[in-house]
Amino acid sequence: MSAEISDVNGLVCLESGSLPVRGDHYSLVLLQTQHIDAIKTLHETVIERLPDDQKSFVLARPESYFHAHFARSISVAMGVVCNSNLVAKCLIVHPRAGETAADLGGAILHSAPEQTSIMQSATVHPDFRGNGIMNMMIRHWLNHAVRHGRMHVLAEIETRNKQSWSQFLKAGLNIIGAHKSPVDGASVYNAGERIKLTLAKDFTSATQAPDSDATGNCVIMAVNKPTDKLKATPLH
Ligand SMILES: CC(C)(COP(=O)(O)OP(=O)(O)OC[C@H]1O[C@@H](n2cnc3c(N)ncnc32)[C@H](O)[C@@H]1OP(=O)(O)O)[C@@H](O)C(=O)NCCC(=O)NCCS
Repeated sequence: MSAEISDVNGLVCLESGSLPVRGDHYSLVLLQTQHIDAIKTLHETVIERLPDDQKSFVLARPESYFHAHFARSISVAMGVVCNSNLVAKCLIVHPRAGETAADLGGAILHSAPEQTSIMQSATVHPDFRGNGIMNMMIRHWLNHAVRHGRMHVLAEIETRNKQSWSQFLKAGLNIIGAHKSPVDGASVYNAGERIKLTLAKDFTSATQAPDSDATGNCVIMAVNKPTDKLKATPLH
């Protein structure tokens, strides 16, 4: 299995540019089912490269978990591609009414399922950390949630994983709870926020729907940066 993504030019591209530290050109794209091998390879590589006492930061997932994710028509996956390799990814889960932790990879909801957007399985390849990739994925997740009318956002992060939960706090989320994961018993924080309607209107007016061009090339979708505004607006 390889983390190669050979069809990046045909994918919806949310953002592209140069990584601030490494300098590589990157594209943040929406992944599809044909990328499950690459997603799984990256997932496993990240766990493998974590020190033993940090392996629980990322839940090991069978291939069926990723297939089940894509089978849900209202859920998507974002990936960062550099030199045709998947170097970061996260899953965005939009639950349906009535769904519970058992349907949602163990996530314990704090709001109505049909109003919630969950970020799961965020991983950045160790060689690409510290380039703001997680921050970028969180920003696009918030945009995606608002565009789909999901006014509550949620992520679960191991309490010891400061490098991760600090990024959610920086993006304007708060720690709204903590519990033992029903999947592996690890202590996790619940980072969440309710997005205000006025703020959501602002996001959506500045965001264009993805488009395709005649050449089939990767098409950039314009997005604003909601995180600064989220930070500036205390939400309860
Ligand atoms: C947690 C994780 C997703 C962060 O990804 P990232 O792209 O490195 O995040 P960012 O670059 O946006 O920010 C990382 C922070 O660590 C700092 N950092 C500096 N050097 C770093 C390095 N070599 N490696 C990692 N982080 C570094 C960054 O400066 C930043 O802190 P700051 O915001 O105070 O400046 C990534 O470390 C990872 O994949 N970890 C293992 C899997 C995991 O824990 N996933 C999260 C599950 S909830």
